[in-house]
Amino acid sequence: MKNIAIFASGNGSNFEAIAKAIASGYIPAKLVLLVVNKKDAYVIQRAKQYGIETYILSLKDCLNKIEYEQKIVYQLKERKVDLICLAGYMLYCGKTLLEAYSNQIINIHPALLPSFKGAHGIEDAYTYGVKVFGVTVHYVDDGIDSGKIIDQAAFHKNDESLEEIENKIHELEHELYPRVIKKLVEGV
Ligand code: GRF
Repeated sequence: MKNIAIFASGNGSNFEAIAKAIASGYIPAKLVLLVVNKKDAYVIQRAKQYGIETYILSLKDCLNKIEYEQKIVYQLKERKVDLICLAGYMLYCGKTLLEAYSNQIINIHPALLPSFKGAHGIEDAYTYGVKVFGVTVHYVDDGIDSGKIIDQAAFHKNDESLEEIENKIHELEHELYPRVIKKLVEGV
C-alpha cells in the first residue's frame, strides 16, 4: 500500500476530496501526512476532521528554501511517503524536494495546460474569453506548471459567470484528482 502526503496552503477542498476517496477505499493508499506552509490555512481544520497528521512549517521560519525543504523531506522519509500530491500549495518546489522525490510529485492546475499557467489560471482563461475550460493533473518539475501532463478534463462554457465557472472547475478537480491518484497508486 502506497503512502501519500498532500501539500496545501489554503482552503483544502482538494485535500478533502482526496481524503474522502482514501477513507472510502476508492483510492487504495494511506494518507500519512498533510504539509502546510501557512499556520492559519483552513485545510488544517479539514485534516483534523479526517484525523490526518499535519506538519506545519513556514518558509519564513527557516534560513532558506533548502533548509525548509530538508525539514519537510525528513518528515516525509520518516513516514515512508511514496507520492506527494500538491493541492493548492502556493510555493514552487525547490531542488531539495524535487531530487528527493523525483517523478513522485504531482499537482492539479485549474486550467488546460499549457495554457494559463500560474496562480490565476481560471481568471486568466475567463478574461481571455476561452470557450472550453478545464483542469490538468501533471508531474511537477522545476518549471512553472510545466511537468508532463497525466490527465485533463474539460467542459464547454455557456453563459456562466466567473464565479459559476470557478465552481464548475472545482467540482471537476474533486472528481479528476482522486481518479488520477487511484490510477497511479494502482499502477494502471
Ligand atoms: C485549486 O483550484 C487547484 O487547482 C489550485 O489551487 C486550488 C486549491 O483549492 N492549484 P483548494 O485549496 O483545494 O480548495
